[in-house]
Amino acid sequence: MGAGIAQIAVQAGMTVRLYDTDSAAVARGRDQISRGLERLVAKDRLGRNELDAAMDRVLPTDDLSQVARADAVIEAVIERLEVKQEVFSTLSAEANDSTLLATNTSAISISEIAGPATRPQQIIGMHFFSPVPVMALCEIIRGYQTSDKTLEAALGLAADLGKQSIVVNRDDAGFVTSRLMTVLMHEAVRLVEQGLASPEDVDRACELGFGHRMGPLATADLTGVDVAYRAGRAIFEGTGDPTFRSPQLLRRMVASGHLGRKSGRGFYKYEGTK
Ligand SMILES: NC(=O)c1ccc[n+]([C@@H]2O[C@H](COP(=O)([O-])OP(=O)(O)OC[C@H]3O[C@@H](n4cnc5c(N)ncnc54)[C@H](O)[C@@H]3O)[C@@H](O)[C@H]2O)c1
Repeated sequence: MGAGIAQIAVQAGMTVRLYDTDSAAVARGRDQISRGLERLVAKDRLGRNELDAAMDRVLPTDDLSQVARADAVIEAVIERLEVKQEVFSTLSAEANDSTLLATNTSAISISEIAGPATRPQQIIGMHFFSPVPVMALCEIIRGYQTSDKTLEAALGLAADLGKQSIVVNRDDAGFVTSRLMTVLMHEAVRLVEQGLASPEDVDRACELGFGHRMGPLATADLTGVDVAYRAGRAIFEGTGDPTFRSPQLLRRMVASGHLGRKSGRGFYKYEGTK
């Protein structure tokens, strides 16, 4: 995700410092940005000179305090609360009063990430969608202490990055997009579980009837059935709302290793994968 976000930033003319605790991941990220921009050149949407100039604005660094002094920081480290808390504590200690400190978390509470940091008013959620250069949305989520000024800055940054935003006023579990997706996906699983329709027909209903680009079950296979299951459980635990209780079929699929594309079998079978 970090590379995708960096790509749209350099495309927008910004200079980006790439930081990861794993230097191989920085190199992979740089390659991913280069491949993404090459695709635009192949489609005549970017000139060769613009690609070269954009790549010159990708600056790997192994020093988080250099990153902290940027105008804006978008964190996309692994989805673990304690790791994100540590990153934002360090960023807070080094940042300027005007630095925007954003997290790309899909589901963790912004207030909890910002809890131990010294600048919680500057911390906000900016949730991008994969693949970042293609998907138009940035879901902006306020934490308990996020200031109005930080919200304005995040809206401005999302627009500069070519994204359209929605604002989530509280960081309740699942924000807006994961709650909507979970309800649709859980109901799709229940329809299959109850024998009302096949996975193919449930997905076709959403694609042809609602104009969705991909049905919820194919999406769960792509994301990972285990990831979708955990996301649903986290929202159920966070809200206590039975709407988000996981269907039994999902739990049994995860227990059986039917995790979607990555395991070769989920709601569909995938040839040529393990
Ligand atoms: N993958 C998606 O489709 C998607 C969509 C929206 C949001 N997100 C969110 O984006 C974030 C990253 O997701 P991903 O799929 O790219 O994960 P990933 O596991 O592919 O990448 C995470 C990177 O974080 C690095 N890292 C770990 N600890 C670090 C630290 N302390 N400092 C700096 N780097 C560190 C790892 O080396 C790794 O390269 C997560 O919060 C995730 O929830 C992911």
